[in-house]
Formats: sequence, structure tokens, C-alpha cells
Amino acid sequence: MLQERIPDFSKFVEPDRVRKEVYTDAGVFEREMERIHETLWIYCGHESQVPKAGDYYAVQLGRQPMLMVRGPEGKVHVLYNRCPHRGNMMCGDRHGNTGEFFRCSYHAWTFHHDGRLRNIPMMESGYQGTRYGRDNPECSMKRAARVESYRGFVFASLAKDGPALKEFLGASLVAFDDMCDRAPEGEVEIVPNCFRVIQHSNWKIFLENQLDALHPSVTHQSTGRAAHEVEKMIEKKTGKAPLSYHMLSAFATVTIDKWDNFQTINHPQGHCILTGYMGLRPKDPDTLKYEKTLIKAYGHKRMEEILGVNIHHVLIYPGLSVQSPLQQLRAVRPLGVDRTLTEIWHFRLKGAPEAIYRRSLAYYNLVNSPATVVNADDLENFWKCHQGLSSDGGDWVSFARHFGRDIEKDGVVESGPGMGTSEAPMRNQMKAWARYMGNGK
Ligand code: FES
Ligand SMILES: [Fe+2]
Repeated sequence: MLQERIPDFSKFVEPDRVRKEVYTDAGVFEREMERIHETLWIYCGHESQVPKAGDYYAVQLGRQPMLMVRGPEGKVHVLYNRCPHRGNMMCGDRHGNTGEFFRCSYHAWTFHHDGRLRNIPMMESGYQGTRYGRDNPECSMKRAARVESYRGFVFASLAKDGPALKEFLGASLVAFDDMCDRAPEGEVEIVPNCFRVIQHSNWKIFLENQLDALHPSVTHQSTGRAAHEVEKMIEKKTGKAPLSYHMLSAFATVTIDKWDNFQTINHPQGHCILTGYMGLRPKDPDTLKYEKTLIKAYGHKRMEEILGVNIHHVLIYPGLSVQSPLQQLRAVRPLGVDRTLTEIWHFRLKGAPEAIYRRSLAYYNLVNSPATVVNADDLENFWKCHQGLSSDGGDWVSFARHFGRDIEKDGVVESGPGMGTSEAPMRNQMKAWARYMGNGK
């Protein structure tokens, strides 16, 4: 009998480089789904996506099609999108409202919002003497092993054991605190709907790019330059260009050397925080009005603390990239070894003036949407990386930039001073990856 091939994953990862198979091998991908995406806490969505009882949203967790649904008592449940009878998907739409219960379109088995069996047509006569019936849990829709939310952001883990959500998120909780604290009402609300992009590349390529501070002034240089030209023209004519031009021109004006002023803080779970000032506090009337609403809600001192949080990006391993100061996030859903779906969402700060929402919307459209050239620049690199890695042109991917100069303290690794372009986040992600792949913890 053939023995199952069990690769030694530690051989794939060295401190400053990893093997190309990590990105291209279908067996590695399957194991990643099992050990990482179907084990760790994965972002499902925001509670405001399902405001009323019966509202549901379909979401992919690892290889599993799931449903996030609001129950009548207000609780949000996460269920496998599968009927226990003959396996039919319960909901074919991406989102909607089930009414008072789920009803399978095939033979009309019905289920409560928490997945419990409600009824089977002619159950007593049809199932008398069989193993099936109301008391058999196999007749209910299966639930995600664990569901928790933090400040309205819902996560699920498909493994019954493991750390609680807050423990797993650790320092990366700052992403949600920073986003929600910026709202005068302390909460955010999702803006329906999101952009969905399928990238023809491995999911880790996207993740590595998120905190790659070296690439923006190279990859997005042409975009930045073009925007800067227009910005200067407007400034000349009117004295001041709108902030949205700055969002793009920064790719040219923040030159490659300046990115070293940013800093990355890397955590053992694979999470990483990129700190850096984003120039979001101009003295324009909109910002001043917003500051006043925050002062009214929290007082002057707290307002200064809230707006002074110095975060550019928080990456929550293995599939969430949050830009809290601009109320956006991207959720990464691997579809195959060379196919990755990203969902690009943004949020409203409850109680903030409309102009502040417009700023977030401008960033969403100009930088993160599939329609912008910024996103297109990245997508081309991702595809080209995957193509190159699939070739016989080399065996390793290098993460050696500023290797050996990281500062490690209590398991937290910071890029060295003036080394914001360090490849420390990639090294850290792969270290966490090897650990999860080895023992799933
Ligand atoms: S498959 Fe759902 S009721 Fe038969
Ligand atoms: Fe980019």
C-alpha cells in the first residue's frame, strides 16, 4: 500500500527564505486549508451586515461555504451552508433574508436560525423506526465550532479547541479599537456592498504585499506621479487641491527612502502592525467639525488620543488586512493554490459628519477598488509572481532585507529603527505559517 506523503514543512521555511512550493503545491494548499483557514479565527463579517432576524450573508471559510445569520433573539450564528438531508446548499444567494426559518428548496426540511431542525415534511410517518428524527443532531444544520465577535466584527473558528478570539487577536485588536473609537458613537456600520476581486495568485502573495513598505514607491510610482501633476495644477489654479489627490500623489511624494521611517511590529500569531503617519489630520473645516463632535463625545484629551493613534495598516493573520484610520478592510478568501478572492469593504463612523465618510469613500475608490490603477499595479505583480514561482527559474523566495537587524522582545519582533522597508513581516508570517502547518496551533 502506498504511504501518504507527509512533507516536513520546516524544510520549506528558513529564517530568511522559503521554498517556492509553499506558493504553488496543491498538497501544501490543502494542508493550509485544514491547519490554518479551517482552524484559526477567520473574519466572517460585520454584525451590521445582518441587522434583522433572518438576515444572512454567505461567506467562505477555508474550503467551507458558510452562512452568517441573525437569530430572532439578536444573536449572530455561523452555520455550514448545507442541508443535512441530501446536502443541498441552503442558500444560493450571497445574502438575503430567510424569513422566520430556513427552508431547503429540495424537500422542504426547515431549520431555525441557529441551525436546529424545525420540521421535516410528514416526519412521523416518513422516519418512524429510522435513526433520523427531531432528536438526532445530524438532522440539524451544522454550526461553526466557535463564533465570537469583537466590537461588531464577527469571527468563526471551525476547530473546537484553541485560544479565545481576544487572546488570538492579541495586539491586533487595536485595528478594531482604532476604527470604532474614531466614531463619536463608538461604533461603525458597514457600507453595503463590497468589491470582490479574484486574483490569479496564491493567497500569501497578497498578505505579504500588505506590509511591504518597499513596493509602493516603485509599483505605484507612475500612479503617484500622474496624480501629483494634476494636484499641482489644481493647487496653482485654486490654491488648494482636495485631500483625495494627496491619497494618490503620496505614492510619488513619499519617496522610497521615506518608507524606512515607517515601522512594523510583528506578533507570534502572524499578525503585524505597520505604523506611520497618513496625513489625515489637515486643518480644513471638515476635519475641525469632526474634531468638535469627538470632543463633545469624549472630551478634548481623549479626542487627541484617538486621532493620535499612529497606524497605517494592521494585518490579522491569516486573512484580514485592516486600514483602521480610513475605515476599510480587505478579507482574503483562498479559492485554490493559484486563486484568491479578496473582499474589499468600508465602514461609516457612526455619528461622524458626512464629509469624513466621503474621505473614506474616496480612499476606497481611489486606492483599494478594482477600478483604480493602484490596485491594478498590485494585481499585475501578484499574477507575475505566481507565474515566476511556478517556473523552474529558481527554488527560493528571498525575505532577507534587513535580516538579522530585527529587534525581538518577548516574542514580538520589530523592524529596526529606520528600517521600515524590512522584510520582517514576511519572515514573521512564514515563521507562524510553519508552526501552524506543523501542529495546527
Ligand atoms: S436536500 Fe434539503 S430537504 Fe432534501
Ligand atoms: Fe500596492
